[in-house]
Amino acid sequence: MNVLVVGGAGYIGSHCVRQLIAAGHRPVVLDNLVYGHRDAVAPDLAFYDANLGAEATVGQILRDEKIEVVMHFAAFAYVGESVNDPLKFYFNNVVATLYLLHAMLDAGVKKFVFSSTCATYGVPQSMPITEALPQAPINPYGQTKLDIENALKALAHAHGLSFAAFRYFNAAGAYEDGAIGEHHDPETHLIPLAIDAATGLRPPLQVFGNDYPTPDGTCLRDYVHVDDLSRAHIAVFEKLATPGTALFYNLGTGTPTSVLGVIRAVEKITGKPVPHSFAPRRAGDPPALYADSTKAKTELKWTPKFTSIEPIVATAWKWHQAKPKGYAR
Ligand code: UFG
Repeated sequence: MNVLVVGGAGYIGSHCVRQLIAAGHRPVVLDNLVYGHRDAVAPDLAFYDANLGAEATVGQILRDEKIEVVMHFAAFAYVGESVNDPLKFYFNNVVATLYLLHAMLDAGVKKFVFSSTCATYGVPQSMPITEALPQAPINPYGQTKLDIENALKALAHAHGLSFAAFRYFNAAGAYEDGAIGEHHDPETHLIPLAIDAATGLRPPLQVFGNDYPTPDGTCLRDYVHVDDLSRAHIAVFEKLATPGTALFYNLGTGTPTSVLGVIRAVEKITGKPVPHSFAPRRAGDPPALYADSTKAKTELKWTPKFTSIEPIVATAWKWHQAKPKGYAR
């Protein structure tokens, strides 16, 4: 299939591009390179440096490239920033996405795969999190993702759009050959910061809170390999053939790992200590978030290849060794 990957130069998008090629599809990348990296995409692939909200441009690309499916990864995703600058998030994550969807409907492209998030659940009532739990985001980032989920439902009903919204847990790791990986600027994610603390590229890691009601007092998260996420996006294609299909899936391994557990894994894989100290809790961090992904496993035959933290960290470490400072900017 011809697939437009919006945000295809970002962390998850660039991995999906490679998985699409491996599965025999033809990805076309659209990315404005605000957070994406041109080097994360092979130079010979079709690449458009454009904004997802540039409706006329996107419409032209959809027609010229005979796009059949659009995957959308191009969101702002810093939770703290979303609290301080909500309009930035509403304009990009909601308004620009609505223009993208309008361009699609106008061009007759009616299959859509959307990056949603476990942040749409807010502080969940129970664990592990199933898709049936109420969604009550506690920050604008999660709210913008939920707003698009709701818009998609309405478009499926009104216009026969078929879509899958994947609610990711903590995307982690890197492509297995180490050629592409995680590089955010600024970096706020635990695994790259822990690796950089181990190698001395960054200061010692601050562990945000050790007084949570969890076994070791640090937050529990569900780290899921970025290539496993990508594989689910491709596995859903055949389900989108029926007009008006509306699908929601949690994507996580179901295995919770604490912050100290991640530190131990990084120490084991790198063979280096991770210097760290305990700091106050970070605002907005729920104590525990982990998935029940039975629905994706059953309906999509999705089987995560990486089910524990160490092999995931091993891929991140391989990428780090190949490019300690990430992509050139
Ligand atoms: N953490 C630290 N020190 C750090 C960085 C993180 O202790 O320097 C802790 C956090 O407090 C958290 C865990 O490590 O308990 C994971 O933090 P990340 O920042 O790596 O990931 P988050 O769980 O905060 O965020 C992820 C996605 C977001 C999404 C969110 C949903 O990156 O896009 O899950 O809650 F919104």
